[in-house]
Amino acid sequence: MERFVIGIDLGTTGVKSVLVNEKGQVVNSSLKEYPLVTPRPGWAQQDPELWWSATVESIQSLVKTIDPALLAGIGLTGQMHGSVFLDSDGSILYPAILWCDQRTDQECEQINEKVGKDRIFEITCNPVLTGFQAPKILWLKNNHPEIYRKIKKVLLPKDYIRFRLTGEFATDVSDASGTSLFDVRKRKWSEEILDILEIPFDWFPRSFESVEITARTSEEIQRLTGIPAGTPVVAGAGDQAAGAIGTGITKEKLISISLGTSGVVFAFSEKVFVDPQRRLHTFCHAVPGKWHLMGVMLSAGGSFRWFRDTLGEKEKEQAEKIGKDPYEILTSLAERASPGCDGVIFLPYLSGERCPYPDPNAKGVFFGISLKTTKSDLVRSVIEGVSFGIRDSVEIMKSIGLPLGGHCRVSGGGAKSAFWVKLLADTIGEKMVRLVSEEGPSYGAALLAGSGTGVFPDIQRTCEMFISINDEFTPDLANHTFYTKIYNLYRDLYRNLKGSFDLISDLF
Ligand code: XUL
Repeated sequence: MERFVIGIDLGTTGVKSVLVNEKGQVVNSSLKEYPLVTPRPGWAQQDPELWWSATVESIQSLVKTIDPALLAGIGLTGQMHGSVFLDSDGSILYPAILWCDQRTDQECEQINEKVGKDRIFEITCNPVLTGFQAPKILWLKNNHPEIYRKIKKVLLPKDYIRFRLTGEFATDVSDASGTSLFDVRKRKWSEEILDILEIPFDWFPRSFESVEITARTSEEIQRLTGIPAGTPVVAGAGDQAAGAIGTGITKEKLISISLGTSGVVFAFSEKVFVDPQRRLHTFCHAVPGKWHLMGVMLSAGGSFRWFRDTLGEKEKEQAEKIGKDPYEILTSLAERASPGCDGVIFLPYLSGERCPYPDPNAKGVFFGISLKTTKSDLVRSVIEGVSFGIRDSVEIMKSIGLPLGGHCRVSGGGAKSAFWVKLLADTIGEKMVRLVSEEGPSYGAALLAGSGTGVFPDIQRTCEMFISINDEFTPDLANHTFYTKIYNLYRDLYRNLKGSFDLISDLF
């Protein structure tokens, strides 16, 4: 009898689950959305209870399509860096503070002072950044000591879902890498950093390699979802590492670009390899014993979503009338503008930025507007600006000698648009390819579950078997030369505006 695995991706805007068969095919998928709460500029929170109810609904809709006894395992992935604070009963103490939250500037400084900037980088292979977990824990201590005193566990988002599914606390090495508390070289929690910051070691779950079985589902889950009690749940991975499994980035010279809410350029590495200028992250990969580098911009698809929701009312209405996706209508509008948008340049720093500038104060900008500027120019400039942000990370990778290997594999919501992928090829000057499976992190999580439970072979072999190229986009050299001129201006703009970003952030 054919067996199945489920991959669950707890994203920023919703949870996506996929049901995958033994041939590696997605036979069913389900998406349930939930809101992102921004109580103050720069803050980003969510209620983990909403994650859980959306996850239950999403699993229920998949499980009812098969004989549940054929379910071999579950893999978890999700937005990284978020912090879920639990008390001794496992109850939620404070809304989850997300990866794109920028409230912890002062706490980052505090950590740098106490542990030392260089020592943090030596151990965790990354600078401490506002969205990471350690400064959020200190923020709670500094701002809500009464809540801090009740903490018994601190979990990453997907690990909260594991806790609800199995009653167990566990995490994986790729997700733990984004906490500023994890020894990325040794693939274990850093007792040194935890000691210095006076954070108890036992607040953190045991860490596993991504394919390892961490726990089994409970009886209660059987009643709630139909998943048989005792179904294995593998460690899984942070959404970027799982997405890279879903796009087959499991050996050297392979690079992927993901256009989700965030925009990420991801490269495989056999060994620990760091950007000496500390602009890229080095994290443990979901391939056991391997690492990866990545450049993360905070608002990629997020910038486009912001445009849709604030300036795209008309297109939304039109889309509803004709049963189309508003993004499709906005993209055709963008296609009507010419490259360079008649001089309009968009800076996509809507939630501050992480790579290449770790700057919580950076802001979004439309530069170069004139009376001639049209809505087409504006929307195209958003797509171009995000593509320039992606180019920033690719350029850094080239400059530190990471081999590019001839193409980049593009995935995520933005990859649905052939226009955007071609524009990426032109702005970056590299060939872009799209893959047959478009499911991204949830698919990667399902492959990890299949590999970890013996349905599939080891994860590298599994990816070779199931992942193949669908279409290719070759850069047009004349366009690339033109875009490079605009790209250089784009880079100047951030440098020129940096002081003003700081000043405006003091006011609001
Ligand atoms: C990765 C990162 C984002 C989130 C949300 O470092 O911050 O990709 O995981 O997707």
